[in-house]
Amino acid sequence: MNDRKSFGGSIGFVLAAAGSAVGLGNIWRFPYLAAKDGGGLFLLVYLILLVTFGFALLSSEVAIGRKTKQSPLTAYDKIQKGWKWLGICACIVPAIIMPYYSAIGGWVLKYFMVFASGEGAQAAQDGFFGAFITGQYDTVGYMAVFLVACTAVIVLGVNKGIEASSKIIMPLLIILILIISLYSLTISYNDPSGVTRTGMEGLAIYLIPNFDGLTFSGFMTILMDAMGQLFFSLSVAMGIMIAYGSYVSDDADAVSAVNRIEFFDTLVAMLAGLMIIPAVYTFMGVEGLASSGPGLMFVSLPKVFQSMGSMGTIIGVMFFVMVLFAAVTSAVSIMEAVVSSIMDEFHISRIKAAVIEFVVAMVFGIVVCLGYNDFYFELTLPNGATAQVLDLMDYVSNNLLMPIVAIATCVLIGWVAGPQVAISEFEKNGESFSRTKIYIFMIKYVAPVMLFILLVKSSGLITF
Ligand code: PFF
Repeated sequence: MNDRKSFGGSIGFVLAAAGSAVGLGNIWRFPYLAAKDGGGLFLLVYLILLVTFGFALLSSEVAIGRKTKQSPLTAYDKIQKGWKWLGICACIVPAIIMPYYSAIGGWVLKYFMVFASGEGAQAAQDGFFGAFITGQYDTVGYMAVFLVACTAVIVLGVNKGIEASSKIIMPLLIILILIISLYSLTISYNDPSGVTRTGMEGLAIYLIPNFDGLTFSGFMTILMDAMGQLFFSLSVAMGIMIAYGSYVSDDADAVSAVNRIEFFDTLVAMLAGLMIIPAVYTFMGVEGLASSGPGLMFVSLPKVFQSMGSMGTIIGVMFFVMVLFAAVTSAVSIMEAVVSSIMDEFHISRIKAAVIEFVVAMVFGIVVCLGYNDFYFELTLPNGATAQVLDLMDYVSNNLLMPIVAIATCVLIGWVAGPQVAISEFEKNGESFSRTKIYIFMIKYVAPVMLFILLVKSSGLITF
């Protein structure tokens, strides 16, 4: 793999990595978890984890990638003989994520079509989302279109075009989210029981941590959710940042690149929460927040757009098209992780590997879609949530496998190879890695211990 191309300077890497990081995780997943877990407290826990764990893991992965210049499947083994199994585990995660990510991508596509055909008002009706996802073949069709598009990007290699357009679309998406957020702070709603709720009250719920009635077990659930979200959102613990790190040229400043990715990813997630949570509170009250699930964005935003009057349709179309774009850039990176691993392992062409992954994702994607219909079940997860196929796959990847990969990465870098491996990689052009002490402390002690406790809790083996 000596012919690996490098990104020109660090900006190419930052853009590509941010394109992978900023996606449905920020806009769809973060707000619904924050809503379920009581807003402010989730936010606080998330931010603390970000500057400690998130930073330590992201830095380690980028360093492993740049040092070894290999794909995740073989990179761990190059750092330390005998660690190939970790590469294999890391590759399983994106393989599990891809099908359900495509299913949600399909939902976004559907909403885009609905708004583009001027039917946005329908989407704001109670029951619209439920009827859509429980419909038998509609969701499968949209998911398939989304998946075909991603596969085409992988096969045709139009990633460069995506990177270039990210420069325009990402900032636009942020501005749009900001506008919608500000608007959702101004709304108020009189519910049928005569209570009036406002967006500003919702803002307080989102930002101010509420410790009332908090139990230890409740806190652990929040911690678990925040951790899974952090991995998902930063695209760490699944090999992706290793693959990307391997494309960073040796003279680029990797420290500032890592900082920028963290900042950008978190900014979008926080703004997405600001856009969605006050609105859910206003229209659906505290119960609406507590009972929220994967459908949150699709249920609450159309109501916000509808309350904007005729402007709402235009904003709705623009919003869903940009989210679709963000979803494709992330999904392509998920798929690329799987495809490049299949290529490396079985020595087959890109096209063959892409077709294999397409078929696998399609089959499981159909199962995910039918999970709200023919394959409907209700399973109670160890975190108390009721799961269908989608939630189950999400849980297995984010709350079980990612912590395992993350713990192993901490052990490898913290204890076996030694943190100096990563630190020297960051400082090799004379940059100073300002968070050295906290990095060592995190990667050696705090992260593995905490991750282990969370894993035990997530697995449901011990309840506390
Ligand atoms: N980080 C992406 C998001 O927040 O939507 C999702 C993602 C990308 C997950 C790449 C996993 C992955 F490998």
